[in-house]
Amino acid sequence: MQICRTVKEMRALVDEWRANNSKIALVPTMGYLHDGHISLVKIAHTLGDKVVLSLFVNPTQFGPTEDLDKYPRDFQRDVDACEKNGVDAIFAPTPDEMYAKDFSTWVTETSLSLPMCGVSRPIHFRGVCTVVLKLFNITRCDAAVFGKKDAQQALVIQRMVRDLNVPVEIVTAPLVREADGLAMSSRNRYLSADERERALSLSRGIFAAEKLYNKGERSASVLIAEVQKSVEQANGKIDYIVCNARDTLMPLESIDRPALLAAAVYFGTTRLIDNVFLG
Ligand code: PAJ
Repeated sequence: MQICRTVKEMRALVDEWRANNSKIALVPTMGYLHDGHISLVKIAHTLGDKVVLSLFVNPTQFGPTEDLDKYPRDFQRDVDACEKNGVDAIFAPTPDEMYAKDFSTWVTETSLSLPMCGVSRPIHFRGVCTVVLKLFNITRCDAAVFGKKDAQQALVIQRMVRDLNVPVEIVTAPLVREADGLAMSSRNRYLSADERERALSLSRGIFAAEKLYNKGERSASVLIAEVQKSVEQANGKIDYIVCNARDTLMPLESIDRPALLAAAVYFGTTRLIDNVFLG
């Protein structure tokens, strides 16, 4: 496995691979890898001859008061996990390598980025789209894998790729959970034992709402109230709970088409997201 720290090193490697007609699949991550990330690597192996995992805590997608500085990092642990799972190269640049001091070009998706996480994190998706397009250009990947854990992110990336004719196949992967239901996330590391326990109310609420949907309930507000009840009982502070159309992310009253029930909730200072697709 190769570890590339610079764009030049990464380019040299992908040029060599492409000269041999190898297909390249990319898994973009911010590191502190868990089984959710590894599930994407497994899918990437089915999409390409060579798998690149990028490991970059992208500063431009964090707001000024967010957790950029304390975002968990453990490079050696990530390297070991990649090695074990057959990753061919890690791309792990520094912020200076990715962003020139006078960097001034951004990719802004202007519709799907606005609701949900876009409300409380107004520059987040601009940072995500910009860095992901850069990663696509640097790795010249044929395919890239994104998790449904970040359902809105995956939709925004798919829209960017369609709108800008980016020649990369976007594949989405199921949300991976801990045995007790908590959605796997690098940020779970922040939770105290008590917060971790209370955080289970989020997945529990989502499952309860999904169960109601499967029994025939079609009122969005009833499903939202089910999640709300669960997290409020556990003292979670709600950022949002929405039930939106899956393709447009516009709010639904009655769930008469494929939908995304999604929530962002704080437990202590840790903001967690979870979701389920309905229909
Ligand atoms: P990060 O949070 O590290 O997630 C990297 C990828 O792993 C994303 O596609 C995310 O959806 C997926 N992922 C995380 N937890 C998952 C889980 N429990 N189940 C399934 N997939 C999961 O998302 C980012 O990084 C960044 O925004 C990035 C796309 C790398 C751009 O900086």
